[in-house]
Amino acid sequence: MTADFKALEDLSKRYLRFAVVEAQGNSPLYERLAAFISHSPEILQFLASLPADRRQPNLFLAAVRHVAGVLKDGDGLAAVLRERAQEVRQVILSRTTQTNEPARCAVLLPLLAQLPQPLALLEVGASAGLCLLPDRYGYDYGTTSLRPAGPVRHRLPVFPCRASPTTPVPSALPEVVWRAGLDLNPIDVHCEADVAWLETLVWPGQEDRAERLQEAIGIARQDPPPVRRGDIFEDLETVASEAPKEATLVVFHSAVLSYLPDQRKREAFATAMIQSRAVWISNESPNVFPALARQAPEPRAAGNFLLAVDGTPVAWTGPHGQSIDWIAGAGPEA
Ligand SMILES: C[S@@+](CC[C@H](N)C(=O)[O-])C[C@H]1O[C@@H](n2cnc3c(N)ncnc32)[C@H](O)[C@@H]1O
Repeated sequence: MTADFKALEDLSKRYLRFAVVEAQGNSPLYERLAAFISHSPEILQFLASLPADRRQPNLFLAAVRHVAGVLKDGDGLAAVLRERAQEVRQVILSRTTQTNEPARCAVLLPLLAQLPQPLALLEVGASAGLCLLPDRYGYDYGTTSLRPAGPVRHRLPVFPCRASPTTPVPSALPEVVWRAGLDLNPIDVHCEADVAWLETLVWPGQEDRAERLQEAIGIARQDPPPVRRGDIFEDLETVASEAPKEATLVVFHSAVLSYLPDQRKREAFATAMIQSRAVWISNESPNVFPALARQAPEPRAAGNFLLAVDGTPVAWTGPHGQSIDWIAGAGPEA
């Protein structure tokens, strides 16, 4: 069955946007491939034949890479799809984009450090739970660097994060006494196939990021953070009720709520969070809470996430935790 013209046009725009907004400056290969796809009727037809929630550039490009390795150009991509479309389809239908980016801990840290310690961390949409270990990694903010105390038995990832001058970069790591994750499909750090998929989700050209992901997985394997199978709406309260009362409960999420297309559900979640006893940290694309984004001053770089605490925007952040630009007047500044 051939897709209608409108569906193909929408897909073309989506891939072109991915090329120029998301991939540009981050992965030259994905920028080229996504631009090629946006002009390829053959590949757009393939994408249109997938369920609507399985057409994302990130998922398609990772699936092709999982099947055929890193390709050189669009012609190579078209050839793979002609010869191995069923295999690519199979990966797309059996996996989701669960990119777990531990570097995002670098942008959470300025907020975590300001809270009364110790902390109980609950991450919704945790994937493998690598963002639940902010106290076990190293960070380099340019002017300040932080490392966990005590011996490290595994190679330590050190996440570089460009911090704007007013960002309250912490001088110590937080004290975490309890942690738990919730995910529709938890990734097991001890499962080779799961880990291979996580690694495939890191874009070509970002080898440093891939190396730090492997290091973070090594840290997590020593004492994996518990990530429970469950839904953000159905199961959050139950998990939260298990957190120790004497610790500051922090519920956080990054790159998760864009998977919930229903804006009313997002708003209901936000209301429940504000009314809860937990400190709520959201690190999401600004499209997720447009009203919050309107409160945050421009300029910000294209593709940046908005970091907010209890419904108040505090910083623009690089989507992979690579930068943090504190918003003037958003609480204690450096
Ligand atoms: C892109 S990953 C982000 C992982 C992690 N938060 C990070 O920043 O590295 C999004 C995760 O959210 C999970 N997810 C999506 N919708 C969910 C829901 N309704 N309830 C729980 N988890 C969900 C997905 O399974 C996926 O693992």
